[in-house]
Amino acid sequence: MSPARPPRPLVLALPKGRVHEEAVALFRRAGVDLGSTLSETRKLTHEAGGLRVLVVRAQDVPTYVAHGAADLGIAGRDVLEEERPDVYEPLDLKLGACRMVVAEPHDRPVDERGLVHVRVATKYPQVTRRYLEGRGLFAEVIKLYGSVELAPLTGLADRIVDLVSSGETLRQNGLREVDTIMHVTSRLLVNGASLKLRGREVDALLRRLRAVL
Ligand code: PRP
Repeated sequence: MSPARPPRPLVLALPKGRVHEEAVALFRRAGVDLGSTLSETRKLTHEAGGLRVLVVRAQDVPTYVAHGAADLGIAGRDVLEEERPDVYEPLDLKLGACRMVVAEPHDRPVDERGLVHVRVATKYPQVTRRYLEGRGLFAEVIKLYGSVELAPLTGLADRIVDLVSSGETLRQNGLREVDTIMHVTSRLLVNGASLKLRGREVDALLRRLRAVL
């Protein structure tokens, strides 16, 4: 009989950027050292803390987990509500706290009861459409990939739906909040098959993280 192959490490997909740094700090408190994933900035896969870590764009994390290319991932509620991936979300890691808001220029408020054609620019078209439908509002949704605050300044849109943390970006661009759509934090995602096939390892990691939250 051939000797059993050692199982591959669990694969964790981390989002690039601020949440990556916060996740490394959280995992460190839980006794899992992912520090090398921050220092080797050009490498896309890392063996760290007993895990295989992929560093990908935040919007891509649910895709890796849903398809099983990663067993685990970390993604914000903003991305999850937009993508609605088929994954488990067993733990709110409370990282990357911010809000998704509707905003408009101070000096050009939209009259919601008016009959004018309103355009809303956002990185989150699905969430924005659901929000508008829920309010009985009619507007054209314009998809952007970044610097959404520029849209009302250039005449591309009347309003935006975007994330706000300190509020500084809105302030510096003459925009004010009109409504909060949701509070956002990052959650741990688990692939369904991984939860069944590698449940003990996943549970052990969940316990360590829960203990330091
Ligand atoms: C995010 C968000 C806002 C800004 C909010 O953008 O989309 O633009 O941060 O932060 P603040 O309230 O603290 O100013 P990000 O830096 O991710 O870049 P992007 O706009 O290109 O997506």
